[in-house]
Amino acid sequence: MPVSVKSASSGLGVAPTGGGVGAEITGVDLRRLDDDTFAAIRRAFVENSVLLIRGQQLSDDDLIAFSRRFGALDWAPIQENGRRFVDGKPEIYVVSNVIEKGVAIGSLGAGEAVWHTDMSYLDDPPMASMLYAIEIPPKGGNTGFCNMYSAYAGLPDPLKRRAAGLRIKHDGTYNSGGYLREGVAATDDPRTSPGAVHPLVCTHPESGRRCLYLGRRRNAYLLGLDLAESEALLDQLWSYATRDEFTWYNNWRPGDLVLWDNRCTMHRRDPFDPAARRIMHRTQIKGTARPAA
Ligand code: SIN
Repeated sequence: MPVSVKSASSGLGVAPTGGGVGAEITGVDLRRLDDDTFAAIRRAFVENSVLLIRGQQLSDDDLIAFSRRFGALDWAPIQENGRRFVDGKPEIYVVSNVIEKGVAIGSLGAGEAVWHTDMSYLDDPPMASMLYAIEIPPKGGNTGFCNMYSAYAGLPDPLKRRAAGLRIKHDGTYNSGGYLREGVAATDDPRTSPGAVHPLVCTHPESGRRCLYLGRRRNAYLLGLDLAESEALLDQLWSYATRDEFTWYNNWRPGDLVLWDNRCTMHRRDPFDPAARRIMHRTQIKGTARPAA
């Protein structure tokens, strides 16, 4: 059971969100972090899987500098309209519905983004992502996180036994907004779609805990099963995985930074009014170990 912690020397506080995953970090300015405070944030990240840090005032260089303390960064992913990144900073992916001079400044529009894990369609997916809120619509656009340790622990025993040893294809055709990734041929056959294969039940390389590693539902495929069997088992697993008690939603404010562990969480986004503006800058920290059983 996560507990609140406050450090007298650094002023850093760690308080569980009260939802199914995550904690809020207080008392820090991410532009000025000494090594001990960073180490405490790093520990809180592994213990809580999702961290919310409010009230930040980060330039793009500050966001890159804080992200790099966790490891090397990936470039922005290829989305429906290619790689949308901040000019001259390919590490900062822009998630936005804003159109400037007829050109989308970011990806994912204003619709729902379905439950997913970032870039798990690659052999070496990013271990973590961070999203920094710059402009937020008055309503909607909240982002939900799901605890995949709890999702695994909450499976009925026969389903856990069924999942043991299976491998799952994570699809690289469509993104979480339902859009076809630029340069990829449309297909709805999960057996032949492009993607990467990972164990369905993984062991987190740092916590040592077991979690379900689903990626996203569309075009997922359980290797070695016939398609109908794979679809039925995946539907069953998904019906347990995203139960409300395993989730927590961030109701964004400008200056919020949320950091999540892609190895043991999924996330989704509520739709919002397309006429409102939402601008978020995201970084991704490269994985250091392939997902393993
Ligand atoms: C994402 O999937 O990384 C975007 C989430 C969001 O827009 O809140």
